[in-house]
Amino acid sequence: ARGALIRLASTPESVAAAAASEVLAVLEAAMAWRGEAHLALSGGRTPAALHRVLASLPFDGWSHVHVWFGDERMVAPAHADSNYRMARETLLSAVPVPEPQVHRWETELGPGEAASRYDAALRDLATRQERSAPAFDLLLLGMGADAHTASLFPGSPLLADAADGVDRAAPFATAVEVPTLNTWRLTVTPATIRAARTVFVLVVGGDKHAALRRVLGASPDPLEAPATLLHDVPGDLAWYVDRAALFGKPG
Ligand code: 6PG
Repeated sequence: ARGALIRLASTPESVAAAAASEVLAVLEAAMAWRGEAHLALSGGRTPAALHRVLASLPFDGWSHVHVWFGDERMVAPAHADSNYRMARETLLSAVPVPEPQVHRWETELGPGEAASRYDAALRDLATRQERSAPAFDLLLLGMGADAHTASLFPGSPLLADAADGVDRAAPFATAVEVPTLNTWRLTVTPATIRAARTVFVLVVGGDKHAALRRVLGASPDPLEAPATLLHDVPGDLAWYVDRAALFGKPG
């Protein structure tokens, strides 16, 4: 990444607040340049906190924003574990993003069909943008304590591309089986993550400290610490972290 910034805030709430104003600044710039903004959301508690702050800030550009999802669980949209449901409850019910501009993974179709439809929607975006891969103006990501990001978990075959840096004609969206969770997940691929113009990674909590040290340390391995692939993002990359994640819980 051109500039990998680490933005430190002292509490989880101030991490969300710091990131939220920057999210809106990126969306404003995208709309000024291109008349629309493509924002990809993630699941998890930390992204949810950011969504709530976003919903509370004055911003009159939501009607020009397209909302995508970096990943999704294989559950119905109304299920408690659905990232789509979380986004609707924390942000989309409070801001006027037009329905056709909310790009939900159609999990009711099953993993294969949901992934191929999302891949087709992302290919359409890339075509409209006249780019070889779909470029989110801002990709919001969280990171797990195992250094997973989106639904790219340690050992995932998708990371092989990241490991040798060769982007074969990989899809932009796919369904992956996550053995450690004994479930399927839907996720954008490293090719799509790399195509993002700006990536914000939200990492909060002492339980993330070991993973963050690995990912920000010397020569991390993307296969065992998937968030490592974010270093390859050619666009702007910012890590929004709290003290516990960056320095570890005291004592
Ligand atoms: C998901 C997310 C996942 C999440 C991280 C961080 O679907 O859960 O894609 O990557 O962002 O696990 O989640 P927390 O902020 O809740 O720790």
